[in-house]
Amino acid sequence: MNLLVCGGAGFIGSNFVRLMLEREPGCRIAILDALTYAGNMTTIADVLADPRCRFTHGQIQDAHTVAELVKAKKITHIVNFAAETHNDRSLLESGSFIQTDVFGVHVLLEATRKFGLERLVHVSTDEVYGSIAEGRFTEQSPLEPNTPYSASKAGGDLQARAHFVSFGTPVIVTRGGNNYGPFQYPEKLIPFFVTRLMDGKKVPLYGDGSQVREWIHVMDHCEGIEKVLRKGEPGQVYNIGDDNERANHEVVRILLEETGRDAALVKSIPDPRRGAHDKRYSMACDRVRALGWMPRRSFHEHLRETVRWYREHEAWWRPIAESEAYESFVKAFYGPSLGEDL
Ligand SMILES: NC(=O)c1ccc[n+]([C@@H]2O[C@H](COP(=O)([O-])OP(=O)(O)OC[C@H]3O[C@@H](n4cnc5c(N)ncnc54)[C@H](O)[C@@H]3O)[C@@H](O)[C@H]2O)c1
Repeated sequence: MNLLVCGGAGFIGSNFVRLMLEREPGCRIAILDALTYAGNMTTIADVLADPRCRFTHGQIQDAHTVAELVKAKKITHIVNFAAETHNDRSLLESGSFIQTDVFGVHVLLEATRKFGLERLVHVSTDEVYGSIAEGRFTEQSPLEPNTPYSASKAGGDLQARAHFVSFGTPVIVTRGGNNYGPFQYPEKLIPFFVTRLMDGKKVPLYGDGSQVREWIHVMDHCEGIEKVLRKGEPGQVYNIGDDNERANHEVVRILLEETGRDAALVKSIPDPRRGAHDKRYSMACDRVRALGWMPRRSFHEHLRETVRWYREHEAWWRPIAESEAYESFVKAFYGPSLGEDL
């Protein structure tokens, strides 16, 4: 398999590359990544030491770059992780989300069709469904995204669907739950809280923290994507979740325990997402389970392991947390509510 992994210098993409190098000895992997604020060469330093893996700096919406890479590396399969991924950032600026998450997906679909590739797996999110008060989303549930981020992801998913119906392009969409694990950019809830709590800083809890998320360990998610890549049916959508629903305040309580910090560090702030903050996500995942996949990692144990990972990898996250891109976002987004506690 000659695999193009787009967004492979990010959180989930880099973990997926590690998995594929281990599981598929004969594979060749080309990573294409724009190295936005969320991409990081130190994240993939280990995989680039493997001669089967090569890196190209570029954007998925650049059709010329994608075409040259597909031809030069004789690519047979693409897995797309490349995206603008942060809901809160999309509330400050959303044009880049449309560029990458919608137009970029279009470019990958066109390349898959034009060069007759065997498969494109497009990695999407449960957030495209919106919020569900009771029951679970199935792959047939309507798409009702509530933030510019989730709307741009839904746009990519619909491009994929239309390409399959119109041209028979062999594309599959996966929709994952909230991921946690090593190498997650520290603006997302778990690493944001862990790194700030380790520094003894206040952390902002949106409202009363009753929002429910379905958490899945990044390696369980990657194994689900691998299963879909090998066995999934073109034109289908596969939900990938762990049946592990947790209210944000429960996750925060565990993080306080694991970092040994006092609840006084948690500051409840008015919800900056207002009506766009989905109350609950929950997915039925029978379709991916029927391919022979199931999540293997328990939440408590692996959340603890994740906290340990951040404690032991300060050399990875500290330069990010002190970067201009990170600090300016934190200041712009949380400054008004955290004030002096920032
Ligand atoms: N993190 C989650 O909880 C979660 C859950 C479900 C689905 N997803 C989806 O999984 C994918 C990966 O998420 P992540 O958390 O690893 O994101 P991330 O922000 O950590 O990484 C995204 C990567 O894409 C790269 N990138 C961004 N724009 C690009 C472009 N135009 N061209 C090429 N590369 C570009 C970035 O440099 C970065 O390396 C995304 O599509 C996201 O929507 C994420």
